Amino acid sequence: MTVTISQTAEIQNFFKEAAGFGNDQGNPRFKQIVLRILQDTAKLIEDLQISDDEFWKAVDYLNRMGSGQEAGLLVAGLGVEHFLDLLQDAKDEQLGLTGGTPRTIEGPLYVAGAPLSEGEARMDDGTDPGTQMFLHGRVLDAAGQPLAGAVVDLWHANTNGTYSYFDGSQSEYNLRRRIVTDAEGRYRARSIVPSGYGCPPSGTTQEVLNQLGRHGQRPAHIHFFISAPGHRHLTTQINLSGDKYLWDDFAYATRDGLIGEVKFIEDAAAAQARGLNGRFAEVEFDFQLQQAKAPTAEQRSQRPRALQA
Ligand SMILES: [Fe+2]
Repeated sequence: MTVTISQTAEIQNFFKEAAGFGNDQGNPRFKQIVLRILQDTAKLIEDLQISDDEFWKAVDYLNRMGSGQEAGLLVAGLGVEHFLDLLQDAKDEQLGLTGGTPRTIEGPLYVAGAPLSEGEARMDDGTDPGTQMFLHGRVLDAAGQPLAGAVVDLWHANTNGTYSYFDGSQSEYNLRRRIVTDAEGRYRARSIVPSGYGCPPSGTTQEVLNQLGRHGQRPAHIHFFISAPGHRHLTTQINLSGDKYLWDDFAYATRDGLIGEVKFIEDAAAAQARGLNGRFAEVEFDFQLQQAKAPTAEQRSQRPRALQA
């Protein structure tokens, strides 16, 4: 026999009391959200007949997830971060805000304040034995005209699939730069070809994915924030062609229009011209921004980040 009490007036009033509706202090929006969480949690417990053991296992999971700083990874892995993109796309479409480079998830590993340079930058500190990569392209406006003075803020993993700041063995801001586009809207970065990466194998995100029968791997990719006065902020990534996980990304970040074609160049003379021995890679990628309909559209989201600027 299924016993349900969550819809009774008594329990609904109890949840309202717990969510602070009985006082005039606090934050009304926050109260509304907490009430909904309590109501939906109760409904889920009843509908799926969650046992006490399952409930307390979930509480323990939240504690462990938080202590491992993996909440950002879990929301990516469960597709919630991608859902936010799809929802924003749908809202944009309704408002006629279409065109330009697609958005995709930021992920949890951005660090504000990377070194800023004009036109070009070297991103790697020379210690990673990875293949040298020459990444370049233009930032364009909605009409396809080059945008000078746009900021290309980019970050990517090393060949072990880890990011500076979070991986303390890398130098400060390694593989993180901000590049201001030149008069032709161009940016140029020299770096190393990043590797894809997986969730920490013994972490709490992988623990959930194992229960779902899913892997926790991402293809090699490069993250970008693109911004320019009068234009809508763009958060996106390019995922690199040829990667086994390109269309099997545990975080669902790969999207049409966001594939970076990597060309490996074996020509010794071309390598020598760049001061290199042997093979190197080239990736060309242009970004197109929408016009900002309001000044707030020029800003990135205010989500908490490492070293918030
Ligand atoms: Fe990433």
